[in-house]
Amino acid sequence: MTTVCEGSAADRSGVAEPAGIPRWSETLFPHPPGRKPFVGDLRRIRGVAPVQTITRRLAGMGPVCEFLAFGRRVTLVTRADVAAELCDDSRFVKALPPGLVALRRTAGDGLFTAYSDEPNWRLAHGLLLPAFSKPAMRAYHDTMNAVADELIGRWDGAARAGRTVEVSADLTRTTLETIARCAFSTDFGSFTSDEQHPFVAAMISSLKGGQRFAALSAIPAVGARLALRAERRDGEHRAYVNAMLDDMIAARRSQPPAAVARELDSGRDVGRGPEGDLLGIMLGTTHPATGERLSDQNIRYQILTFLVAGHETTSGTLSFALHYLARNPEVLARAVAEVDQVLGLEPGAVPSFEQVAKLRYVRRVIDETLRLWPTAPAFARSPREATVVGGRWLMEPDDMALILLTAVHRDPAVWDDPERFDPDRFLPAAVHARPAHAYTPFGTGERACIGRQFALHESVLVLARLLHRYAIEADPSYALSVTERLTLMPRGFRLGLVRR
Ligand code: HEM
Repeated sequence: MTTVCEGSAADRSGVAEPAGIPRWSETLFPHPPGRKPFVGDLRRIRGVAPVQTITRRLAGMGPVCEFLAFGRRVTLVTRADVAAELCDDSRFVKALPPGLVALRRTAGDGLFTAYSDEPNWRLAHGLLLPAFSKPAMRAYHDTMNAVADELIGRWDGAARAGRTVEVSADLTRTTLETIARCAFSTDFGSFTSDEQHPFVAAMISSLKGGQRFAALSAIPAVGARLALRAERRDGEHRAYVNAMLDDMIAARRSQPPAAVARELDSGRDVGRGPEGDLLGIMLGTTHPATGERLSDQNIRYQILTFLVAGHETTSGTLSFALHYLARNPEVLARAVAEVDQVLGLEPGAVPSFEQVAKLRYVRRVIDETLRLWPTAPAFARSPREATVVGGRWLMEPDDMALILLTAVHRDPAVWDDPERFDPDRFLPAAVHARPAHAYTPFGTGERACIGRQFALHESVLVLARLLHRYAIEADPSYALSVTERLTLMPRGFRLGLVRR
């Protein structure tokens, strides 16, 4: 039911309240038992794994639950029917929870952290959409294969030596290199050194620092002092990252067009070359109607956004997928059979752009992986105007709710035996039979993930190449443990590999 409220009593937002409908902001939603003064529900979650503990503790309490820490309340939508309402872009808009507001210290009004009504969001969204079109994906394809070659080179060495591989770390090298080369024609040398590139380490520290600042600031009395102390350290990382990106932008700006052309002609394997990559588009394109351009500061925010949003989410997805494949021999056998059928039995076969689209079962493995472990596990929504949600609560523009995907994607009203890993849930007939918005690992509406096709093409390509080359062997003693950094990722997951 869509109700833009009209009625009698004026409320604080100036919108009238329909009789008998309680306000969202005044409703006490179910929460973990044992709430304490001051800390609220904080003792009830394991600090290192908040998404998982909250998902577990709130299971069955939905459709909306709440969590309180130091007087700050977060409301969480855990069921698909209410989540579907909040995904309706005509009534709701992306909101920024405190964690994302904190990221604005580093990523400003870049695409991920911008408010929808900030002019730079619409400008950047419009300028960058073509960089994620099908022709653009075709142009990135060879670079994706080239980076996969480097991963395979590393894993061949491990296979020869009989060593297991550190799955998440190596896949994170792969996805970081891929986005850096496709989007910015920059090589971080992730496979030529065991050390993380200092820029990457500083970038991650700077982002985590922003989140730490927000968390510490929320603690009454001592918080501000602790946050400021942490900020001094994080400020150095931020300055280093900003300086390096500003240099990168200035260097690209100073390149004469002829030099760009030479570089393009040289056939260097870095995406489609600087002129056509994301940075080239941002520097060289103006809005067709207004002639506006992105400022250098905003371009820096966008580079950071793409480097961060574009790698851990995908490497987590690939890592979880390999975990489930190693644990489900029948699923593995079907995936390998499909890869062999599409790529042929020639060792070293490399998928063409068209072949990636034919790997339908491998794609379903990725879809099902993102159901159980949506690597970006939540996104937030606020109503555009006061509206009644679930037929039961009056939500107003100042209210915000997190759609908790780890819970919504396990809603027993939609998903039969939700913990079972079953890629056939994504057969077309099953997808059509499901309610809309029961599955939203890439968010929703105009603020949905701009990199979705990029992530899916890369994931299917890399997984196919690994399954074509190696028989994978799970460590039978490994129980899935999930670490929560900026995204979700298997912890301590290793695989044995045998060349097929
Ligand atoms: C499996 C991999 C990925 C997952 C699960 C994922 C998930 C998401 C989600 C849930 C959102 C919406 C967040 C919100 O509403 O607050 C989002 C937005 C975004 N993603 Fe992704 N993402 C992935 C890969 C990528 C890649 C590869 C890129 C870049 C190449 C990317 C760039 C972005 C950007 C820029 C936004 C903000 C879009 C906007 O608001 O205009 N993501 N992503």
